[in-house]
Amino acid sequence: MHTRMARLRRPFLLGAILIASFGIVSAQQRGGQGAGAEQRPRPWMDTALSADERAGLVLAELTLDEKIGLLHGMGRGGGSAQDPAFQAVAARSNGGAGFVPGVARLGLPDLQMADSAVGVARGASRGRYSTALPSTVAAAATWDVKLAYEYGALIGRELRDQGYNVSLGGGVNLLREPRNGRNFEYQGEDPVLAGTMIGHRIRGLQDQHIVGDIKHFALNDQETGRQIASVTLDTRVMRETDLLAFELGIRIGKPNMVMCSYNRIGGDWACEHDYLLSGLLKKSWDFKGWVVSDWGATHSTTKAALAGLDQEMPGDTFFGAALKKAVESGEVPMARLDDMVRRILRAEFASGIIDNPPVTRVPDVLVGFAVAQRVAESGTVLLKNDRGVLPLGAPTIRSIAVIGSHADVGVPSGGGSAQVDAAGGSAVKPPAATGGGQRQGGMGRGGTWHPSAPLAAIKARAPRAKVAFDDGTDSAQAAALAKASDVAIVVAAQVTSEGRDMTNLSLPDNQDQLIAAVAAANPRTIVVLETGGPVTMPWIDKVPAVFEAWYPGIRGAEAIAAVLFGDVNPTGKLPMTFPKSEADLPHAVLPGSDVTPQPVPAPAGAPAGAQRRTQLPPFDIIYTEGLKVGYKWFDAENKAPLFPFGHGLSYTTFAYSGLKATATAVTFTVKNNGTRAGAEVAQVYAGLPDGTGEPPRRLVAWEKVTLAPGESKTVTLTLDPFLLSIFDSAADRWQLVPGDYKIFVGTSSRNTPLTATVRLRD
Ligand code: NOJ
Repeated sequence: MHTRMARLRRPFLLGAILIASFGIVSAQQRGGQGAGAEQRPRPWMDTALSADERAGLVLAELTLDEKIGLLHGMGRGGGSAQDPAFQAVAARSNGGAGFVPGVARLGLPDLQMADSAVGVARGASRGRYSTALPSTVAAAATWDVKLAYEYGALIGRELRDQGYNVSLGGGVNLLREPRNGRNFEYQGEDPVLAGTMIGHRIRGLQDQHIVGDIKHFALNDQETGRQIASVTLDTRVMRETDLLAFELGIRIGKPNMVMCSYNRIGGDWACEHDYLLSGLLKKSWDFKGWVVSDWGATHSTTKAALAGLDQEMPGDTFFGAALKKAVESGEVPMARLDDMVRRILRAEFASGIIDNPPVTRVPDVLVGFAVAQRVAESGTVLLKNDRGVLPLGAPTIRSIAVIGSHADVGVPSGGGSAQVDAAGGSAVKPPAATGGGQRQGGMGRGGTWHPSAPLAAIKARAPRAKVAFDDGTDSAQAAALAKASDVAIVVAAQVTSEGRDMTNLSLPDNQDQLIAAVAAANPRTIVVLETGGPVTMPWIDKVPAVFEAWYPGIRGAEAIAAVLFGDVNPTGKLPMTFPKSEADLPHAVLPGSDVTPQPVPAPAGAPAGAQRRTQLPPFDIIYTEGLKVGYKWFDAENKAPLFPFGHGLSYTTFAYSGLKATATAVTFTVKNNGTRAGAEVAQVYAGLPDGTGEPPRRLVAWEKVTLAPGESKTVTLTLDPFLLSIFDSAADRWQLVPGDYKIFVGTSSRNTPLTATVRLRD
């Protein structure tokens, strides 16, 4: 990786960013609400009315063409049609991933949609700055719902600052497959943690008057074959795993939009799946917002519309003229068309984008820095720390070797639609994403390097030490520097991306070999991981300390240095299992990676011998592990993980005592036994009664408890009956099974010193 990348050291010019950010004109100002509006009364602007009532009043005013116009986009970034009338409207697009013109005569705003999983994406193409937050999986690793809220609120504010009113970013696909290239933009493997964290993030975002989404609904748990594969799972398993994350996220966050995914489920495309969209989402969950297709995930007009899809993006292949025709012929009833439109209108009123349209302005860069750093610090997970090697005592260290991963210039990000452009340009020529998985959907964005250099941050913390950098391309040379230094810090990176999966969980580019060589040369070797998800660590017994910094964002280096030197006491916990090897996973080989791509038939008239593209043929992904996702698999199969779900060390130690459990609440005491202040994520797991067919334990509650040295706190956590339930497919409802429930309380899924049994009666 290292040799192939040319360095493009560009200074981070804050001033330039601020000036560049000024030239933005809001969607509203450019032709949405107000422009060309008639002076007729607009009763729907009465804020005393409910969002439903207001939506109904506007709906009654819309023509059929205006309705159809709200149900599809004008192409990515505003389309490309040659028609001048089309272009005049498309010119209003803000340049985001999606654009839907509003109805100016009624004051309906243009929908300006921006990808915004880890910050507002693609701003740089328009000279705009946005905060590059740590990856969402880092936010999940904080287990801190207040931070999740702040994360969403920051993105919401910066969307407004740039003139957007719809966010595309609430990814909560379950980390079923650790090789999935998009795990960095999701929330880990546990549905309760993932659903709760995404729910609070959506709350934070929508409180800024932005339409928030949750995606990709559902079971798009890997990139390989995402546009072709069909996932097979029975209803109970879906409801208790992937769909539970969505159910909780929607319940807590009340997003105004759901994005259906590319893949098929049981043979039907997710965006025309009657059970998922109409039966479950809209009927059982009473979702009142609209369903938007992932970009290019619409496959039909009538079937999709009747199944519950409300809006096609980014173009109009199925929900433009074809939908109008289907309505006129009665194939799609007018009542259904009105329902599609009403849902969008309702969301516009409920989110506040009509009453409080975005006002463009320079984003508050320093506030963004502060949130980014807080998340990076709180999400860093200390995996191993033997002999108290960390934190480093700056005054006693004379020399430090910093090795690898361009730590002299920046920190990496994940790639794809989630990618936030680096301020001032990537610090390193963007690498190809790791792994050889099949590329999907033409994603070519392989991550970027944000100008936050660990080397400089380490130097700033250890001003008396000699701090030297080696790029890590030559293991022997790096080991020689390590040998001559008091401490060696190896920064190891794995760049992952939308559009491709990893074929294995090894660190790429001989970094395992580099770490082993450095560790052999210096027993005080510390490994800092910058990865999208779990990696294997064949060198783990050779190094005393390792921490996971994920993709740590624009203040990543400062967070890494703060953890190294103990200014921050780590509090993060793994939101997923780190396996020892791929052989321990439910699928030793990535599903679909053994399917042979087939040539795509050449288009008519293509010259003989023209290069032919290939694509995967349809195939099934059968998740045979069923309910046993992540740690539940390792527990049920008695496999020892490298690091378990929920694991994360601190520079202090915590003791647990005094468990009292009833069927509705647990109470216990956590004590800080050390000499440093710290915070512990105390976790409660439940084992369901025998005969329920459930894995040994599931997460049901947690709390992040901050404790001064020597301090104890007694914590009481409610046991939500819903989280103790199983899904009864025959009766189509959740069921709380009477019987004995084991309660486990502790510091990780595998370290639960307190146990009790509670009995639930009929
Ligand atoms: C496809 C991705 O799957 C989705 O997450 C994204 O929001 C859209 N493209 C728009 O860029």
